Amino acid sequence: MPITHHPTENIFHLHSDEMSYAIQIVRGYPVHLHWGKRLRDGMDWSGMLPRVERASFSPNPVEDDYSISLDTLPQEYPQYGTSDFREPAYQVQLADGTRITELQYRDHRIYAGKPKLQGLPAVYAESDSEADTLELTLGDDYSGLTVTLSYTVFARMNVVTRSVRLQLEREASEIRVLRALSASVDFHDRDYDCLYLAGAWTRERHVQRRPVAPGGTRIESRRGASSHNMNPFLALVRPNADEDQGDAYGFSLVYSGNFMAQAEVDQFDMTRVSIGLNPFDFSWKLSAGETFQTPEAVLVYSPEGLGGMSRTYHRLYRTRLCRGTHRDKPRPILVNNWEATYFNFNADKIESIAKAGAELGIELFVLDDGWFGKRDNDHSSLGDWVVDRKKLPNGLRDLAERVNAAGLQFGLWFEPEMVSPDSDLYRAHPDWCLHVPGRRRTPARRQLILDLSRQDVRDYLYGALSDIFSTCPISYVKWDMNRNMSEIGSALLPEDRQTETAHRYMLGLYELLGRITSAYPHILFESCSGGGGRFDPGLLYYMPQTWTSDDTDAIERLKIQYGTSMVYPVSSMGAHVSDVPNHQVGRRTSLEIRGDVAMSGNFGYELDLTKFDEAEKAVVKRQVAAYKELRGLIQTGDLYRLRSPFEGNETAWMFVSEDRREAVAFYFRTLAEPNPPLKRFKLRGLDPALGYVIDGVEGKFAGDRLMNFGFNVPQLHGDFASLVLKLKAE
Ligand code: DGJ
Repeated sequence: MPITHHPTENIFHLHSDEMSYAIQIVRGYPVHLHWGKRLRDGMDWSGMLPRVERASFSPNPVEDDYSISLDTLPQEYPQYGTSDFREPAYQVQLADGTRITELQYRDHRIYAGKPKLQGLPAVYAESDSEADTLELTLGDDYSGLTVTLSYTVFARMNVVTRSVRLQLEREASEIRVLRALSASVDFHDRDYDCLYLAGAWTRERHVQRRPVAPGGTRIESRRGASSHNMNPFLALVRPNADEDQGDAYGFSLVYSGNFMAQAEVDQFDMTRVSIGLNPFDFSWKLSAGETFQTPEAVLVYSPEGLGGMSRTYHRLYRTRLCRGTHRDKPRPILVNNWEATYFNFNADKIESIAKAGAELGIELFVLDDGWFGKRDNDHSSLGDWVVDRKKLPNGLRDLAERVNAAGLQFGLWFEPEMVSPDSDLYRAHPDWCLHVPGRRRTPARRQLILDLSRQDVRDYLYGALSDIFSTCPISYVKWDMNRNMSEIGSALLPEDRQTETAHRYMLGLYELLGRITSAYPHILFESCSGGGGRFDPGLLYYMPQTWTSDDTDAIERLKIQYGTSMVYPVSSMGAHVSDVPNHQVGRRTSLEIRGDVAMSGNFGYELDLTKFDEAEKAVVKRQVAAYKELRGLIQTGDLYRLRSPFEGNETAWMFVSEDRREAVAFYFRTLAEPNPPLKRFKLRGLDPALGYVIDGVEGKFAGDRLMNFGFNVPQLHGDFASLVLKLKAE
């Protein structure tokens, strides 16, 4: 059992092979004792919490013990208003207008396995032997509020998942939940850097790292989506931690809407990290007998720095968050027509691209935006999911069959959550979008957002998509979403529930996705939000891959893919070779480097394949063949980041198979240097005792030589150069 209860000290010890997480109940308060390297379960657990009287401005709730102050205790689920002045994990307002509650331990339950979260995506265990769960039940007698803290620990991974259930007893009067975070951890000191992923559209998930300091570092989204701007992830890492060593603590939220994460350093240099639903513009009415379930936070500990942390997230999210028939299957090489044609195509053009793709070995054609309504630009038709007979006179099924006849699977783009004011759907149901009566409905990309908190809206979408899925041979769907929320209100919710709209939208989205993905399990779903505007674990639960960014420039992609890999597995990242000059930044790069960068993801092309000359076709054929050979390794191997694009002119990473007998390393040099110094880079993750041969390089290389001495980089020419090393143990 990876969870033990030591009744004498009232300590709960959650452990994996290498990690311990310990909670102690002190005078009824759940106190955070330890999270880090493994402690022996049989050791002496007494005296771990220092009992010292601190400062007179930190009040003391227990009369006979002045060593206890909520303001200084390291806590598991802190409250506000009863003397802890730091960031609270939850707050509720009672019917009498007061906002004070005090949770005290009531009981606990330890059991094998991991239950599902009601209505929300979450990491899962495939068998009860993989994980154990602890439920700590706390209660506030005065209000009738019960709070259950759930912790699951995986036996073989350094992972603790946390979520919280708030419940109101049957006899209690209604309360309003003002905030309900998923996790809060009080670290003992402030000797940490805070690392997170920030950016913008076409510039997602750039790595940010800086020391924590008194005050706080807060990241959040108020956009109604996890967002391009901030990813729902934050890590505390020791200042000396790098890719290979040093303690790293990751916090990742399985949610796709408004979130907040914060690292706050208090007066005694303790660091409180909290993560969960953003309390901004949120509250939730809870009537007697009702329950509110928070999203899940996934906490990862790594003594092996950022590399170890990322590999744990990758393994967990690839195999215990993503689901469905495609989870473990090699992902198809695709060609998408968006940057090839934009809205300007017809059936013959599409068929010609598919045929060109077949000749090159490509496996899937994806028809992007513009196939429905009268969608010749982005001004209209979202919501009218009926084929445009002007462009495709014989319909979708005919086109799909022509693509299939060419030898490719057929995939289709949708943007189900949106409605264009110029659409039949909007004219028929103007109240189906998010809006606030009497206020402007602010458009973005000339579109509004359908109110997915409404069952009738979800039923309409399910019907519209099902009509197509059940009549057309569709193997893949790109589920796009191209704006953030404004005027957040729902026509069906009463006024005292309007602040629930954004979260109810997410619950509705998850319900719809659950319904549709389980009804059509053969379809491979890829999520997208103007690229990576919703690249989050919540959506990966339903759709195992995401379009990483609308920026397809190979050099920009180095940073985007490197940053994304902090949390997300390569099997979840869509990456395409596109045309030059690049449509987003105007840069010209070789077909070779564009291929090499895109191969570190779910590989594809997004350009007009019919325009290739013979020499280009030969390059693409080689890339496609190489990816088919390497994709097992890339999509499921262990990723080691070797050089950061945020720190210099070179980027490098590699993938290693589980048995360490195969690996592939990618090395990129951005700008040419005059008369450059000699370059060498050290590989990682290999077996030091094995000898490796490298494709195209003479000799045999010992694993320890490659890792401890390194590989001498041959002279590279010109800007934007790349090198690929395929290694096999012999
Ligand atoms: C935004 C996506 O990220 C693009 O790949 C493309 O699908 C467009 N939307 C289509 O409108």
